Amino acid sequence: MRTNSLLLQSFLSLILLLGIVKSDPDPLQDYCIANSRTPQTFFYNGAPCINPELAKFSHFGTSALSKPGNTRANPFGFNVTLTNTINLPGLNTLGLVLARVDIAPGGLVPPHAHPRASEVTILLRGSVLVGFVDTSNRLFTQQLRPGDSFAFPKGLVHFLSNLDSKAPALTMSGLNSQNPGAQLSSLATFASTPAMPDDVLKKAFQINGQDVSKIRRNLGG
Ligand SMILES: *[C@@H]1O[C@H](CO)[C@@H](O)[C@H](O)[C@H]1NC(C)=O
Repeated sequence: MRTNSLLLQSFLSLILLLGIVKSDPDPLQDYCIANSRTPQTFFYNGAPCINPELAKFSHFGTSALSKPGNTRANPFGFNVTLTNTINLPGLNTLGLVLARVDIAPGGLVPPHAHPRASEVTILLRGSVLVGFVDTSNRLFTQQLRPGDSFAFPKGLVHFLSNLDSKAPALTMSGLNSQNPGAQLSSLATFASTPAMPDDVLKKAFQINGQDVSKIRRNLGG
């Protein structure tokens, strides 16, 4: 038992040392209010700051997540509204983001991954089945009721499915990067630009050329 935990500890320290598990870099000042006014002429991590003496309380607040996103335009029936350096400039460099996820009745946030952040979500309204798959392809899944939370580890494929065919669902997620990134598995494979070669998709998914064309068409690829 003790040897095991010692081994685990050394392993975790090693991972940390190697920098495999890393969130956003720590800020070097109290805050760095994003300056979205001046056009950016050179590019680096994050957004440049305004003069800290010009910081106001309004830089740290936003109502951007107060209204439901429109889920109709999305083929899967979801809409994500994010805080960002424009609507919440005070969050710049803090390594955090908040996401409002509206899911239409029977809608789905399809399997996707965030390459730069772990996520914890709380269900505010509705009935939602969530799950993620680890790197050994084990599925962790749970049906959430309002008030329930669920965590999705960094980089792992996960989904949120509204089980109610009549009522919309609402979840709120916090992620530990100001730019978590999102990659939908289905779109990354079947709707990339330019398209992945048919042969790759045929072999990867063990399907024929007609299947490839059909899935591509369905996904707008
Ligand atoms: C999400 O909802 C907002 C607000 O209604 C809308 O402006 C935006 O176009 C929607 N996004 C998508 C991808 O449908």
